[in-house]
Parts: sequence; C-alpha cells; structure tokens
Amino acid sequence: MNIAYVTYDGPDDDREVLLATWKQAGIDGSAVRWDDPDADWAAFDAAVVRSTWNYVDRRQEFVDWAYKVESATRLLNPAAVLERNTDKTYLRDFQQLGIPIVPTHWVSTDDAADLPAWEDYVVKPAVSAGARDTIRTADVAEAKAHAERVVAGGKVAMVQPYLDMVESEGETSLLFFGGKLSHAVRRDAMLANGTNAPRANHVGADLRDPAPDQLQLAERVLGAIPEKLLYARVDLVRLPDGTPALIELELTEPYFYLASAPGASDRFTAALRDLL
Ligand SMILES: Nc1ncnc2c1ncn2[C@@H]1O[C@H](COP(=O)(O)OP(=O)(O)O)[C@@H](O)[C@H]1O
Ligand SMILES: [Mg+2]
Repeated sequence: MNIAYVTYDGPDDDREVLLATWKQAGIDGSAVRWDDPDADWAAFDAAVVRSTWNYVDRRQEFVDWAYKVESATRLLNPAAVLERNTDKTYLRDFQQLGIPIVPTHWVSTDDAADLPAWEDYVVKPAVSAGARDTIRTADVAEAKAHAERVVAGGKVAMVQPYLDMVESEGETSLLFFGGKLSHAVRRDAMLANGTNAPRANHVGADLRDPAPDQLQLAERVLGAIPEKLLYARVDLVRLPDGTPALIELELTEPYFYLASAPGASDRFTAALRDLL
C-alpha cells in the first residue's frame, strides 16, 4: 500500500509517529504537502488528510483541492466531510438534532448588536483552528468589535460565554479511528490567561477515561454523520449545569496525540487497512 500523509510545511509529531508505524507495518507512507503543486495524488492508494493546518485562511482553495484529489484517489476523510467540517456553522445542524452545543450568538452581518449579557466572552471565526483570531474579553464592546472584524474579513463570527470548566475539569477530546474509540485526552485551556497570541496547532494533553455521558454524547454526534470516517475527534465541554456539550467536531485535521497514547498509531493503521 502506498499512502500519502497529507500535511503542511511545519512541525507535526503525529506525522513522525505514524510514518514510523506504517513503515513497520509494510505500508509505504509519504508526507505530502496538500498545497504542493507537483504532488501526484493518483500515484497513491489513498491520501490521508492530517496536518493541513495552514488552510484556515484558504478554506475554499482547500475544499476545491479535496474534491480534486478525490477524483484521483481515495481521500480520507472524504471531501464532502471536509467541506462541511471546516466551517463551524455545522454546530447549528447538531443543535437542531438535539445535541447540546456551547451557547452561541452567530454574527454573519456587520451588525453585531444585541450580544447577550455574559460575564466573559469568547469571540471566534467559524473557520479557524488552534484558536486563531479568537479572543476572550469581559468587555461587550470589545467582543462586538472583534465579531465585526471577523465578519468584515468574510467569515461568520461566533460569540460564546467563556466556560471556565476548561481550566478545571478541562476539555475532553475523544479520538475515534474507524468508528471505534481509540483514546481520550484532557486538553489544556487555550484562553486561560485571556486572549492568546497565535500559537502552536495543539495544546498539551493527558490521557483520560471519558465519563459515560461524554462517551454517549460522542457516539450520538458520530451517529449523525452519514459518511464512513477514518478518524474523528469529538471535543466536549460541560455547560454550567453539568450537561456535556459539543464544542467542536474535528473531522478534518485533528491532532491525535499519538505519542502520548500507547497503541493508538497501531489502531489507526488497522482502521486504515480495514477501510481500504
Ligand atoms: N466558549 C469557550 N469557553 C472556554 N474556552 C473556549 C471557548 N471557546 C473556545 N475556547 C478555547 O479555545 C480553544 C479553541 O476553540 P475551538 O472552538 O476549539 O476552535 P479551534 O480549535 O478550531 O480554534 C478551545 O480548545 C478552548 O481552549
Ligand atoms: Mg478546537
């Protein structure tokens, strides 16, 4: 098997772990930049989207790329999944299915008036990664101004209350490979000290066992996806009343924390073989 590990031109330690596992398993893996104009996608049995972290300001180019590659080889996850999943307005679809999400005020015109009265705001673009262009502020005027900046930049803005449980219990991310839970981690809070400078594509994390209600919610979320998925990361928080809620579903370029999860890269590789 000849597999493209689809990446960018920066660091990614999942890449080193997975390419080593593939080599041992007799899979011929190559790291290929998604935006490499000379890449010959048809030469691969499959292209596995991984650390394409520089697509955020080039989303349309990325989506077009995905459909193009899919016409040449097997793309995982599929292009239609990537298209839907790279814009967090998909959270509204989950909400309509009765899946709890973080309360969100969506701003898609330049009028961000009437923000709810919250103690502490998070304002982020609907197309983002690694908390890029994301601010935390207690000042409603600043929240509004940032939402307007996001909208002026051509993106939908999301305004949410800051959930301080991200600093205590922490955000829980559940990693599924081939539809089966591989491992889960508690991820560090990105906005604990206020707005962050642009940062690495992932924060620190420790392995944790998901609580039964988190596992149940994650399975409900994935049950709503019609396509077969190679990988999924379901990021969950808790609302102030304790209800688990979806903050993000990562079906595009989630970091897997492979180096800290024994056996995870073997499980991923087995799921890949099963799918192909
Ligand atoms: N409403 C919120 N309350 C607390 N922390 C938040 C909130 N929204 C985002 N964050 C922090 O910012 C990080 C990035 O936000 P997220 O919605 O996951 O977007 P992305 O990972 O695509 O940038 C989260 O992992 C979390 O640490
Ligand atoms: Mg996230």
